Amino acid sequence: MVMEPKPMLDKEQEWFKLQSYFCKVGKTLNIAELFAQDCGRFEAFSIKLKTPEDGDILVDFSKNRIDREGLDLLLDLARCRKIEKARELMFNGCKINSTENRAVLHVALRNRCGTPIKVDGKDVMPDVNGVLEHMKDFTCKVLSGEWKGYTEKKITDVVNIGIGGSDLGPLMVTEALKPYSQGLKMHFVSNIDGTHLAEVLKKVNPETVLFIIASKTFTTQETCTNAKSAKDWFLNTAKSEEAVAKHFVALSTNKEKVTEFGINPDNMFGFWDWVGGRYSLWSAIGLSICLSIGFDNFEKLLDGAFFMDNHFRSAPLEKNVPVILAMLGVWYSNFFGAETHALLPYDQYLHRFAAYFQQGDMESNGKYITRGGKEVPYTTGPIVWGEPGTNGQHAFYQLIHQGTRLIPCDFIAPAVSHNPISDGVHHKLLLANFLAQTEALMLGKTSAQVRNELSKSMGPDELEKLVPHKVFRGNKPTNSIVVKKITPFILGALIAMYEMKIFVQGIVWDINSFDQWGVELGKALAKAIEPELQDDSPVTSHDSSTNGLINFIKANSRS
Ligand code: F6P
Repeated sequence: MVMEPKPMLDKEQEWFKLQSYFCKVGKTLNIAELFAQDCGRFEAFSIKLKTPEDGDILVDFSKNRIDREGLDLLLDLARCRKIEKARELMFNGCKINSTENRAVLHVALRNRCGTPIKVDGKDVMPDVNGVLEHMKDFTCKVLSGEWKGYTEKKITDVVNIGIGGSDLGPLMVTEALKPYSQGLKMHFVSNIDGTHLAEVLKKVNPETVLFIIASKTFTTQETCTNAKSAKDWFLNTAKSEEAVAKHFVALSTNKEKVTEFGINPDNMFGFWDWVGGRYSLWSAIGLSICLSIGFDNFEKLLDGAFFMDNHFRSAPLEKNVPVILAMLGVWYSNFFGAETHALLPYDQYLHRFAAYFQQGDMESNGKYITRGGKEVPYTTGPIVWGEPGTNGQHAFYQLIHQGTRLIPCDFIAPAVSHNPISDGVHHKLLLANFLAQTEALMLGKTSAQVRNELSKSMGPDELEKLVPHKVFRGNKPTNSIVVKKITPFILGALIAMYEMKIFVQGIVWDINSFDQWGVELGKALAKAIEPELQDDSPVTSHDSSTNGLINFIKANSRS
């Protein structure tokens, strides 16, 4: 089974209907007025997902520029793009990553009921469960102290060396779930900039450190270079290749390269080509997560993702959270011309959440060619960005409130903090700010309100000068995603929710969300330039800007 060719999105009847609806109604919809007209709006435009263990996940999408008719039209568009069929193709192991001829099965990694999922006729679940067992065993040994370094000391520090999907997921999750830490100190090195590794090496001891070399391909320049430098640093003290086996493990699909690097294949945790890098935290790439929070909590993370997968797979489109979030994104991107989407977690532990989904979303849907090889005449993936609240409020929210661009935002907040210090005062203030921002973005402030406020303290001339500056147009769309607490289960569910949102948008836009050819050219050019930096001779083989930059660097790097 393969993904059938689709008509261009802007030739679909459902697209025309939406366009005409947008021109007649959609573009003038006012969120505050929609609330005034419908006292049941919150109930109708929000979904509560009941999880088996960690409370409800409330997804409130009522503060959007959408009414029932608009939402129905968006869902009709999703239907006509055959979301349900595409979803089944993915879950059934079909090779929907057509440009790489690969299945897309991160869902198999969290298929907690173990039902067979076949690729090329072979059930992948025994292999998935086998690697999970290996991860469990290793995690228990390291955390219990049974796994010892070359001088018989316990491991105290873990350094994950990887980049992109082999870094961002484990880093984001270990930060998000710090309250569940089992005591090991976690470090992450990704950048080829030697500073990154050098600063981490200052903090660790060769006798008690474990290096995890995380790379799907085991050919990535940054990771291989950092891994080699880490090994040299280690051997400088340990002086024995044998000791490497106690301090270096690899997470990869490439056994040959792992062995060539000098890591014992017994210390390799494998995965498969059907796990995309940016979808790999559920695989062996999650080993650093296991070591940080313990294997039981890692399993809860998988359980949470499985819960969301089941919701996505079984809920009708009108009650399907990832589908609704995706179609609202299409609404703003393709009809209102919104260029970006902000992720704003009101939880300091989620401070890498937006960075994680920058790769998740932008590497997946940053494409202008359809599955059929045609250039799209519409916009695709948004620019994803964000920072935790309340910090963002004091930095970039000004532009969201009063700038010239429309920025749809997702606010994510837990009702309960892991750190209810000062009798919970901090958390109440945090939540008050989250609620206030979504309300302010929706309501804005009219000139009449501003005049009324200012008239108490200033004369008419001064007042009129100030009024336009203090008006907020409002009508800025937000989704609010509220949970009881950020637990491993809930985090797993939230990550899977966004993964599936990205999937749905990719299907609607008819692009392949699972390749990343756009990152290759820069890698190839860097390989060509690197030897040119080796000596002092002037370079003339590039354009005059690149030549000028290279020659300036050469001239200035001479000691
Ligand atoms: O350069 C992009 C990329 O291929 C990502 O897709 C991937 O997550 C990252 O590099 C790291 O790749 P690897 O895990 O193979 O080292």
